[in-house]
Amino acid sequence: MLAGGLLMSEIHEPVMIAEIVELFAIVPNGVLLDATLGMAGHATAILRRHAGLHVVGIDRDMMAIEHAIEVKNSLGDADARRFTAVHARFDRAADVLGRLGITRLSGALFDLGVSSPQLDTADRGFSYRTDAPLDMRMDRSETLSAWHVVNEYDADTIAELLQRNADERFAKRIAAAIVAARPISSTMQLAAVVTAAIPAATRRSGGHPAKRTFQAIRIEVNAELDILSTSLRDVMAMIEPRGRIAVLSYHSGEDRIVKNVMREAEVDSSRPNIATPFAHPSRTAPRAWRKVRVAKHPSTAEQQRNPRASSARLRAMERCEMPL
Ligand SMILES: C[S@@+](CC[C@H](N)C(=O)[O-])C[C@H]1O[C@@H](n2cnc3c(N)ncnc32)[C@H](O)[C@@H]1O
Repeated sequence: MLAGGLLMSEIHEPVMIAEIVELFAIVPNGVLLDATLGMAGHATAILRRHAGLHVVGIDRDMMAIEHAIEVKNSLGDADARRFTAVHARFDRAADVLGRLGITRLSGALFDLGVSSPQLDTADRGFSYRTDAPLDMRMDRSETLSAWHVVNEYDADTIAELLQRNADERFAKRIAAAIVAARPISSTMQLAAVVTAAIPAATRRSGGHPAKRTFQAIRIEVNAELDILSTSLRDVMAMIEPRGRIAVLSYHSGEDRIVKNVMREAEVDSSRPNIATPFAHPSRTAPRAWRKVRVAKHPSTAEQQRNPRASSARLRAMERCEMPL
């Protein structure tokens, strides 16, 4: 809770909120998984719009779960009964749901990456704008922090992760500068080392020079890309006909994984139908998933209001009715 009695979710506008709420407005009654609960902005808006849904929200950050308890207390009794928050990583979603007796989903939402409160809480070490110890762990009970990556990884490994996680053009130069400047203990010190490693002419364009390095290190610390495809596949396997999945990603590496998993779901289901091998060879099995037409990016107005939303990319799919 912040000053003035407002919840953080009432201050931070959830990304593409209108589009997300409409996407799930027509799914069948049942359970919706919010795999990245954050400040529960999407979760509560979906809950209010669709009276037949129970929302199970999970987040690996205890700060989000503590906030979710405040959100639950602020809801009316009927809505509060339809909202459950659990501290977990989304690759454990099927287990979490199983323990709640849930085997089928009407929908699932993944709003990937870091939340505004994580960025804005200085001592979490996610931001290059405020000085803090190098941390960046979404789950503070885990052991690998940004300090270990910055001070213990060799230069080749750092260069490789800057390239893979943030398409950083100056990956090798930055990695060499980090290794030369050790020990590096704070976010501002790291930001200064990175800025000095980037050619002066390039520093003036494309946002803060340390932005990509911070993103790449955060993704490494939280193994964000490693668990994404299996998590999406596991959750999609639980979604029932006419149920939907929506994913908001914030950089090309993430979006590539989402696109591949969704494409694979579409393509797999349109292979020749092996259940009826004597059917005409051109006959294909009914599609199990179809893409949902939806805006790909936030509107210009939203991007102006909320610059953090500007890199968002939305993809959504619906499970088709399968004839018995
Ligand atoms: C962009 S925020 C979500 C914001 C949320 N949709 C809202 O309306 O407030 C992403 C959240 O996902 C969480 N998160 C990221 N990766 C996760 C993972 N693998 N498992 C569980 N939570 C994760 C982060 O801790 C963060 O709180």
